[in-house]
Amino acid sequence: MTSGGPHRMTEPLFSFVHVADTHLAESCDVVTPFVDAINTERFHARPDFVVFGGDNIGGSARDGAVCARQMPMLKERLSRLAVPFDILCHNHDTWGEACRGTQYRHCFGESFDSTRELPHDFVAITVSGKYERDGTLIRGLIDRVPWLEQTLSRFTDKYVLLFAHLPLFPPRQPVPRERESMLKNPGGGWQAYRYGLQPDVSAPVRAAIARHGNVLVHYSGHCHVHSRRESEATWYVTTGALATQPWEYRHVTVFANRMEHRCICPHEVRGGTGFWTNCLDTDHPSVSLYHDGLPEERDFALCY
Ligand SMILES: [Fe+2]
Ligand SMILES: [Fe+2]
Repeated sequence: MTSGGPHRMTEPLFSFVHVADTHLAESCDVVTPFVDAINTERFHARPDFVVFGGDNIGGSARDGAVCARQMPMLKERLSRLAVPFDILCHNHDTWGEACRGTQYRHCFGESFDSTRELPHDFVAITVSGKYERDGTLIRGLIDRVPWLEQTLSRFTDKYVLLFAHLPLFPPRQPVPRERESMLKNPGGGWQAYRYGLQPDVSAPVRAAIARHGNVLVHYSGHCHVHSRRESEATWYVTTGALATQPWEYRHVTVFANRMEHRCICPHEVRGGTGFWTNCLDTDHPSVSLYHDGLPEERDFALCY
């Protein structure tokens, strides 16, 4: 890996944006103000690239035509972006389709993954999920561990930034038992600490990552909250939603010895209820804090 001289500690190597859960719909377009903010450098200089981390549109299992309407809308919005972007699909991007991934394929091509070689021994890998290939539903990294192993072995001497939609750890502590009845679906999988992959399901993916030791950060979305944790030399960062509270994206500046993260809201917040209307836990003892994350989950530097 590249060694850094003193100037490399203060000069950024590159920067990027991770934006997740934009949920573009006819009734809610936070993608346009996002694109405008990036293009006009409203909050920061233009990043070298943007990663759209899934749930890019507001697809629904109850609407078989929603992807056909909204995916071309998304493509049109993204055509205005003045910087390169990578995109991955997941649950809301293919919901309602007879063959999941049809519209995504039509708008963004046959490849559901991408690899972006970056300066100074970095590489960004994006991985989609919840699409069909040859009649089989690919759920995401959990169905592609051999592929992940093979891909990571190609980049042994690189710093890998791995982007997928689902967090590989539950993003929050269990909601206190006395509040469980206040959640939307107390009997089902809707509770925050179950929202995403169970640790035993994601364990093979995390084991593959740990075995290779070159994934610096795994970035995810899906849960609509900001969080981060470290496990076996990899950071697991979840970015909250652009389309619901916390209404933000992450801007990341990469230096030779650290990555600086900060959260930015590029549009007017529309109010209304948040995604997790009754969630809190011991680490996040209010509903707002649950949505927005702790200060150290919002703005932080990862050092290496
Ligand atoms: Fe979402
Ligand atoms: Fe999702």
